[in-house]
Amino acid sequence: MDKEQWAAVDQYINTLLDPPDAALDDALRASAAAGLPEIAVSPSHGALLTVLARAVGARRILEIGTLGGYSAIRLARALPPDGRLVTLEVNPRHAEVARSNIARAGLADRVEVRLGPALASLAALAGQGGDPFDLVFIDADKAGYTEYLHASLRLSRPGTLIIADNVVRQGRVIEPGDEDVNVRGARRFNEALAAEPRLMATIVQTVGVKGYDGLAIGVVLG
Ligand code: SAH
Ligand code: DHB
Ligand code: MG
Repeated sequence: MDKEQWAAVDQYINTLLDPPDAALDDALRASAAAGLPEIAVSPSHGALLTVLARAVGARRILEIGTLGGYSAIRLARALPPDGRLVTLEVNPRHAEVARSNIARAGLADRVEVRLGPALASLAALAGQGGDPFDLVFIDADKAGYTEYLHASLRLSRPGTLIIADNVVRQGRVIEPGDEDVNVRGARRFNEALAAEPRLMATIVQTVGVKGYDGLAIGVVLG
């Protein structure tokens, strides 16, 4: 079992279950052409986000870390026509590419890309006092994950699903000597998740076209 096989099986899953989609292909193409890093969730993980959002009947979704809008499109596809997704992005160029990709996918009416550091946008959202989010997807800078988790909890209700990408980092999270900033951020987040009485959570290890990593999935308790 190696990376090539993980990628081949990922491809098999996509061929079976994820029909070709012009808006998603265009979003990835436009993002690459604009020079954005190619670190969007994989197609099968994008499909998982759609399934989970639909499973919880999400009407309000919060995403932290937009990049070119690939995962935002996957998540927004699960929304009803009057649903809403707010996605937070600090890089103006990423936000601009994302807005264009989201508009091309026909989702501009449902998706708001908010430019600025996520922590500031999260504080602003809390200050606005809107309805709680039904699903939160955390996928920005790993060093900030713990703070994003705590801010997300303030914007949640019992039953809100909180998902975080990249929390296993090729298994490096269990290497105590590994002080890489992303590994440390993921490790600190996983410990905060474990210590959080308001959440029931687990971590799913994943393999596929992006290699070996993991997704944290938790539900806010009543
Ligand atoms: N969710 C996207 C990938 C996000 S990549 C997808 O799967 O399609 C991570 C993104 O987080 C990058 O675009 C990066 O610019 C953004 N980011 C990094 N630090 C941030 C911060 N402090 N606030 C908001 N966004 C941030
Ligand atoms: C990387 C992957 C991600 O999914 C992400 O959100 C950030 C970085 C990476 O492979 O470097
Ligand atoms: Mg990620």
